[in-house]
Amino acid sequence: MKDENIVWHPTHVSQKQRAEQKNQRPCILWFTGLSGSGKSTVANAVESKLFEAGSHSYLLDGDNVRHGINKDLTFTDEDRIENIRRIGEISKLFIDSGLIVLTAFISPFRADRAMVRELVGDAEFIEVFIDTPIEVCEQRDPKGLYKKARQGEIKHFTGIDSPYEAPENPEIVVKTAELNIEECADFVLDYLKQNNYI
Ligand code: PPS
Repeated sequence: MKDENIVWHPTHVSQKQRAEQKNQRPCILWFTGLSGSGKSTVANAVESKLFEAGSHSYLLDGDNVRHGINKDLTFTDEDRIENIRRIGEISKLFIDSGLIVLTAFISPFRADRAMVRELVGDAEFIEVFIDTPIEVCEQRDPKGLYKKARQGEIKHFTGIDSPYEAPENPEIVVKTAELNIEECADFVLDYLKQNNYI
């Protein structure tokens, strides 16, 4: 609950100045998709290319964030909503610092992704749908989680007994079952160049 005695205090250096110093337009590349779809892999490949090109970025990854700031959260709908709310707020701070932020969370609910879009502003939110069919994700099963979910050892597993709401109008759609990682990353980079983010 916000205290009415807490007053917003503007900083002396603006977001615009921080971004100009870095010679880029800050934004969030919001990767969303099923477990095993390739969100982290593609996001890491994109960040490596950004780094090589001299851009300043930061990658927030689902598993890692759940080891730290969100380690109190589970996979109930309520906790997933809180997970995305906190990531949205953190991303907003990173945008303010002038960075290109990459986030790799399942973020299964449309309403939560829309909430983050509204929080940071439409032009700064780039939804990247990692559009990998569940059959492919389940076949990859890099952490053995689908197997456990099928055996009932993990409850509320996305795509099995917890929903995934695919984006209706994403800025970028990446088909990891059809392109290799290099091609996927270049596809995202091309979007950033064509739209003058870098
Ligand atoms: S969410 O839905 O956005 O809050 O999820 P996220 O923070 O991205 O965390 C997803 C990773 O947690 C592991 N994991 C699960 N995923 C989905 N459902 C359940 N029940 C679950 N339990 C653990 C899994 O490794 C996810 O990582 P990725 O990289 O997506 O495979």
